[in-house]
Amino acid sequence: MKKKIIYSLSSNKDLARKISRTEKAELGRVSIDHFADGEILVKTLSDVKNKDVTIVESTAKNAHERLFELLLLIDSIKRGKPHSINLYIPYFGYSRQERVSWINEPISCQVVANILDTAKVDKILTFDLHHPDIKKFFNTKFVSIPTASLFGKYYREYIRKHKINPKDVVVVSPDHGSNTRADQLVKELPGSKKVILNKHRPAPNFVEHLEINNKNISGKTCIIIDDIIDTGGTIVSATNLLYKYGAKDVLACASHAVLSGNSVNKLLNANISDLVFTNSIETDLVKSIKIIDISSLIEL
Ligand code: R5P
Repeated sequence: MKKKIIYSLSSNKDLARKISRTEKAELGRVSIDHFADGEILVKTLSDVKNKDVTIVESTAKNAHERLFELLLLIDSIKRGKPHSINLYIPYFGYSRQERVSWINEPISCQVVANILDTAKVDKILTFDLHHPDIKKFFNTKFVSIPTASLFGKYYREYIRKHKINPKDVVVVSPDHGSNTRADQLVKELPGSKKVILNKHRPAPNFVEHLEINNKNISGKTCIIIDDIIDTGGTIVSATNLLYKYGAKDVLACASHAVLSGNSVNKLLNANISDLVFTNSIETDLVKSIKIIDISSLIEL
């Protein structure tokens, strides 16, 4: 068996540390320098010869720079002749631009896939990818791990602790894109039902309208599940609508805490009883927002 080495760059340092502990793998040392004009220089300070290398980096919070860090580190590592290189991109940035919604728009996600393909790594792994079709953009082996099992475990415990009748639980997909995600959570929570909301987004990060197809949520505990919370617009809008139709309680979870601008305040001011993310993106959050560790889903 080859020796394993795990790198993190500007993001996911904790996650990389956890994986290295569980896998008893060396933690790679890396230097990231900035030139006066903003260009970066990234290189490995550890020896990689004949080792199985894993690089952990979410392409969030300045996706372009995170992506470039990855590409430069891969090049640096390749010069040291490793046995293999896998990329763990817990949150895959640009994944929401996976199709043309308006005339002349780029499929940005495909552009990123093409760039990553040129790096010629062995495998790319991510969590709860925005849309399953994104895989088709890659020639490199690409795997997306669902996070529903982690949320399922969390909510089974929550339901037990709060003495909620499982039949009074409604899993809510805030738009049609999260339908499969909601189905996966329903399977994890026996007795629960699913409701899908209609969402209209006239411009990026702006949610105009949400409706409920099935209004049977009166007196229910609703759990909204999404892949990403960015501005918080979708979740807050969905929460308001669910209360309007008589929900007893609204809880929410999302795999990726993108959380731009004043989204945290927006979420804290909404009447969401419990809010959970994974640690796919490193964030300094207030205590009332919970974080579930995804490292248990990772096997090198
Ligand atoms: C959209 O397609 C995604 O699944 C999320 O619903 C969206 O990215 C959430 O963004 P925001 O928090 O800005 O509404």
